[in-house]
Amino acid sequence: MTSSAACAPAVRPALDPTTDQLAATAARARHQQRLAGKVAVVTGIGSGIGRGIALMFARQGASVVGCDLDADALAATVAAARDEGLALDGLAPLDLTVEGAAERLIAAAVAGHGGIDILVNAAAFCVFAPVDRMSLDDWHRSLRGELDLVFLACRAAWPHLVARGGGAILNFASVNAYMALDGSAAIAHCAGKGGVLAMTRQLAMEGGPHGIRANTISPGFVVTGATRRHLDEVPTLVDEVLRKKMIKRVGQAEDIAWAATFLCSDEASWVTAADFGVDGGARAW
Ligand SMILES: NC(=O)c1ccc[n+]([C@@H]2O[C@H](COP(=O)([O-])OP(=O)(O)OC[C@H]3O[C@@H](n4cnc5c(N)ncnc54)[C@H](O)[C@@H]3O)[C@@H](O)[C@H]2O)c1
Repeated sequence: MTSSAACAPAVRPALDPTTDQLAATAARARHQQRLAGKVAVVTGIGSGIGRGIALMFARQGASVVGCDLDADALAATVAAARDEGLALDGLAPLDLTVEGAAERLIAAAVAGHGGIDILVNAAAFCVFAPVDRMSLDDWHRSLRGELDLVFLACRAAWPHLVARGGGAILNFASVNAYMALDGSAAIAHCAGKGGVLAMTRQLAMEGGPHGIRANTISPGFVVTGATRRHLDEVPTLVDEVLRKKMIKRVGQAEDIAWAATFLCSDEASWVTAADFGVDGGARAW
């Protein structure tokens, strides 16, 4: 038996959590209330990680204001929250790459809740293409979708976090910020995520005197709107992904949302300029 065969799971794990698992997550979060009284702005709540974090934060007691480019997707998240009686609202369609959009989002949260404590930048867009097939236009669109929208939202939130006496910013880097992945045409994504990682360290430096903490999560492969199409198109992808996981399953939005809860809570008051790998061990070997 080869070592990789020894590490392979006997049965391919499910891609999605069960209804019971989701219900248990929701019940635990509602019981914990680790973000009670906080006002959180979360971008990209129409899908994947942003949706998972928005629901988790609302269950943890935060008032959440989200946004998305996709109005129907945002409406579905807001409806899911309302079914649970959670405080979650949002603006859509809102294109965060357009100057002024982030200011509208933050202004809505401040007007509705008197200030903000948390900003989570989960919205992102990127074109995946190998270097010789990446047009300059797609390169620029990708960097706007990976970097500009994070910068613009941080800039818009900053004076309100300063006025509040501090707060937490959470951005998303990636395993791709650290390592090249075989078979992944991720040149713009790598550049964008490396930029987010470096930008967030600098935000932490500038935020320190104001009590503003800034951290990143670098997720491994999480099943979301962004990745599901790829999984459907490439039947071997899931096995390739699992080969790099020490814990032999793909990630769920809830895996990221638990880490996000810690990083945005008062329990993380001495955690800043940090990057948290939440990736089933993929980055360590
Ligand atoms: N899913 C993964 O495996 C994975 C791995 C590493 C890093 N990440 C990062 O985590 C974050 C969330 O990823 P995801 O997989 O949940 O993405 P996703 O594509 O499923 O969801 C992103 C959401 O952002 C919205 N959005 C995109 N551009 C926008 C814009 N200009 N203005 C407003 N909204 C916009 C989309 O409509 C979508 O609803 C991203 O930064 C992503 O790069 C994801």
